[in-house]
Amino acid sequence: MKPVPKPWMTNLPNYEPGRPLEEVARALGLDGIDDIIKLASNENALGPSPHALEAMRNEAARMHLYPDGGCYYLREALASQLRLEPSHILPGNGSNELIELLGHVFLSEGDQIVMSERAFVIYKLMAMLFKAETVAVPMDGFTHDLDAMREAITPATKLVFIANPNNPTGTCVPSDALDRFMDQVPDHVLTVIDEAYIELLPPEEQPDTLRYVREGRKVCVLRTFSKAYGLAGLRIGYALGSDELISLLDRARQPFNVNYMAQVAAAAALQDQAHVEATRRMVRDGLDQLAGALDKVGIRYVPSCVNFMLVDVGKGREVFEALQEAHVIVRPMDGYGLPEYVRVTVGTEEENARFLDALVDVLQAV
Ligand SMILES: Cc1ncc(COP(=O)(O)O)c(C=O)c1O
Repeated sequence: MKPVPKPWMTNLPNYEPGRPLEEVARALGLDGIDDIIKLASNENALGPSPHALEAMRNEAARMHLYPDGGCYYLREALASQLRLEPSHILPGNGSNELIELLGHVFLSEGDQIVMSERAFVIYKLMAMLFKAETVAVPMDGFTHDLDAMREAITPATKLVFIANPNNPTGTCVPSDALDRFMDQVPDHVLTVIDEAYIELLPPEEQPDTLRYVREGRKVCVLRTFSKAYGLAGLRIGYALGSDELISLLDRARQPFNVNYMAQVAAAAALQDQAHVEATRRMVRDGLDQLAGALDKVGIRYVPSCVNFMLVDVGKGREVFEALQEAHVIVRPMDGYGLPEYVRVTVGTEEENARFLDALVDVLQAV
C-alpha cells in the first residue's frame, strides 16, 4: 500500500525556471559562477536598490523574530504611494503566490480561466492545480487580442488573466483597449491584470489600472518587487483589489507568507525611485543595443517594451544549450509554443554585448 496522490497531481508538468548560475557552473564543471551571465529570468541587472541593501543590513540581527504577518508598514507605504487604502493591498510571497491564492479562492473542478495562448505559463499550471480548465486564446501577432479574450468568456469562466506587459512576448496592450475590455467584461468574471513589469514603462505610458481598483471594479492588479525593484530573491509581490477581494485572499494565505527581510527591503526600495529610473534607463539603452546589433546581422526579434526580448534563432533549444556552453544562460521558448525563439533578459551593456557575440558565434556553428 502507498499513499495515493490526487490523480490529477501526477499529470502536472513541472515549471521550467531560468537555470540558476550555480547549476550551470556544476553542469559545465566550472569552479565558480563568475564567468557565467544569467539573462534568463528577467531580473534587474542593476541589483537591489542601495537603500534596500542598507535596510536589510540594519535589520539582519532581528531575523530570529517572526515577521509582521499583516505587513503593516509595507501596506501603509504602498497605500500612500499608490493612493489606495491599506485594505486594498495584500503582499504575497512573490506575485506567484498571489496567483495561487486566486486559485484557492475562485477555482474548482469545472471552472475555467481565460488567458492568451502565449502568456505567463504559471496561470495555466495554477489552474491545473485546482482542476480548472484553461481557455488559451490566440494572440494578435504577439499581442493580447482582448476582444477575442472577452469573446472566449463562458458562464464557467471565473478568472481572466491579462499580463501587461506580457511575458514572454514583451508586448503591451494600450490603455484604451484595456478600458474597453473592463467596460464589457461580464460581471461574473474577475479580471486579473498582472503588472509584473509595469514600472519599467515610462510613467506616462503606464495604464492607470489603479483607477479600476478605486472604482471598485471586479479587478485584481498584481505587482512585484522582483523586476524593476531588483528583489527577486526575496520573493515579494502584492495584489491590489477591493476590500472584499483582499479579505478573501487574506484568508487563503499562510500566517507569515511574506518574510521579515522582504518586508524591510521592499519598504526601503519603494522610497528609492531613482533606482527604478536608473533601471528604466538601462532597459531602454539595452533594448536599443540589442535591437541595433540584431538588425545589423539580420536576426529577427519581437520588439519589446520591457526588460526581455524574444529572439528568433531558428532552433531555440539547441541555441539555448550552445549559449550555455558559452556561459550565457537564456531561456528556450518551446514550452510556450515558440520553438524558434529564445528569450533574453536585458542586462548591462557588457552583458548584452557578451550575449550578442556568443549568439553570432553559436548561429554560425549550428
Ligand atoms: C508576468 C509575470 N507575472 C508574475 C511573475 C512572478 O513574479 P514574482 O517573482 O513576483 O513571483 C513573473 C515572473 O517572471 C512574470 O513574468
